[in-house]
Amino acid sequence: MCGIVGYLGNEKALNILLNGLSALEYRGYDSAGVSIKTDNNIHTVKTKGKIVDLMSSIIESKTDLNGTIGIGHTRWATHGSPTTNNAHPHFTDRVSIVHNGIIENYRELEELLKSNNITKKTDTDTEVIALLIDMFLKEKSPKDAFLSAIELLKGSYAIAAIFKDEDTIMLAKNESPLVIGLKENATYIASDISALIEYTDRFIFLEDKDIAFITKNSIEILDKNQEKVERKPKTVAWSKESAQKGGFKHFMIKEIAEESEAVRNTIQSRIDEKGNIYIDEEIGIDKQFLKNIDKITIVACGTSYYAGLVAKPILEQYTGVFVNVEIGSEFRYSSPIFSNNNLFIAISQSGETADTKESLRFAKEKGLKTLSIVNVKESAIARMADGCIYTLAGPEISVASTKAFVSQLAVLYMLAFYLGKIKGKNTKNQITELLKIPSKMQETFENSNKTVKDLAKKYHQYNNFLYLGRGLMHPIALEGALKLKEISYIHAEGYPAGEMKHGPIALIDENTPTVLVTPNIEPFYSKTISNAEEIKARNGKIIMLSDKDTAVADDMIKISAIDYEFTPFLYVIPLQLFAYYIALYLGHDIDQPRNLAKSVTVE
Ligand code: AGP
Repeated sequence: MCGIVGYLGNEKALNILLNGLSALEYRGYDSAGVSIKTDNNIHTVKTKGKIVDLMSSIIESKTDLNGTIGIGHTRWATHGSPTTNNAHPHFTDRVSIVHNGIIENYRELEELLKSNNITKKTDTDTEVIALLIDMFLKEKSPKDAFLSAIELLKGSYAIAAIFKDEDTIMLAKNESPLVIGLKENATYIASDISALIEYTDRFIFLEDKDIAFITKNSIEILDKNQEKVERKPKTVAWSKESAQKGGFKHFMIKEIAEESEAVRNTIQSRIDEKGNIYIDEEIGIDKQFLKNIDKITIVACGTSYYAGLVAKPILEQYTGVFVNVEIGSEFRYSSPIFSNNNLFIAISQSGETADTKESLRFAKEKGLKTLSIVNVKESAIARMADGCIYTLAGPEISVASTKAFVSQLAVLYMLAFYLGKIKGKNTKNQITELLKIPSKMQETFENSNKTVKDLAKKYHQYNNFLYLGRGLMHPIALEGALKLKEISYIHAEGYPAGEMKHGPIALIDENTPTVLVTPNIEPFYSKTISNAEEIKARNGKIIMLSDKDTAVADDMIKISAIDYEFTPFLYVIPLQLFAYYIALYLGHDIDQPRNLAKSVTVE
């Protein structure tokens, strides 16, 4: 959460910072600001609101922001409400800083500052960092003052600081991401590479407890022992276009439209026509170990968790071992029972989600073999696990996850077939079927788009929805409900259809429509149709997703028939579209829904 950027080079920093902040806005968007060093001064403009509001404030303020060294921030408030005063950068006369993370001991540090007659002016935890550096600057060089301040911090941080009297940017990282972009005569800094792909494809990914000093001619990095260390630059080739809207009104609809391509990219390079799957190297775990696994634990949050729930029966079917799927924030504080032959899988689009990351750390500490399924290259979760299979979905910008979800499914299905083969199953037919999924997804998108848009118009003024499904359609119903909540702010409950009678049926009336997700596959279909009759008997309206028409539904979204195990890839698409178009009719900020941030890097 929160996005930070920095620039040091020959060009004027302001536009580069604003571009970077716009690209990072999905990380937080309640306030924003920039600090730029000009000659021997630091000028700061910050404001409540989005990057466009910052741009207006910059024009109105007429501040001189013509320097070539600067830092910027877009905020998702943790400590202190989203006001201009609490916005970053936080600064004194001598230093200005931006921060992503939480300083857990900030109250203690406030006391330390008070004992030195220094008082805060904001409600944030971050301000203590600027004040500490400034306090140490009275006696120490900027470098030493920075080191002394960082040494006192407990918690998570990605920090960038600029100084009135130094042509340098200083960085510190612990648990929050920080990447340095490299180009001749210029150095860029950002929370993640999506802010920098316009400028470079060469990046240094800082590690926890790293500190970096960047000048025009040098980058010096100190590791956790404060010893000089070389962090080798890596090349990441994400195309510039993939992080742009490309004629679409919102990233979300662009990303839904890209789903078939995302799945195709994810599977095609790893599967051949003969049914072989090439993921040995990415998994990075001995095949003999994989043959003997006796339990799989999957941990993730939100939409990634639902991908895990979809995969559970598929993995169980092909591996024959029990699969336990847990929510990160619960798992990390639980007392799970592990054995030596357990495989742990973390799923995350961003690769940064704090609860998933800490669960992975926990599993590693317990000595488990770990695998991650991640979209963002070189992110923390990708690097921490023994192996990582990347979803090749490209940058996902909209806060509501769509193409990452189906790409996670693609990896999980591949993994199930791969492990199945290791355990002696013939999975050739399934692999051949998986290769056909991208074109079926494209068809589903094209065939359902108009119907779903019309239905969204009809239903966008309802305040409550129920989403019901059985078997593989249960997590798809959960995902449909989550999408609607996130971007339309309409209350939606996802439930296993069979559970309806155990409580949620009390919600049914003419004002609570039900979205019933049911392919015509037994035993699920007949049972779900019975649920539909029960809803109708209570005057409930029904929107049905199925490959078979039924008179009990008020409205139908027809999906082509497909093997049961692959239905999640198709049925989720109209549900994503439904949420999108409802939010569109309601006039919401679809890509940046209120209160949310794309990467939840705090607990
Ligand atoms: C999905 O639409 C949400 N924005 C959210 O639930 C998300 O899936 C969750 O925060 C997990 O994120 P991750 O995949 O980056 O770990």
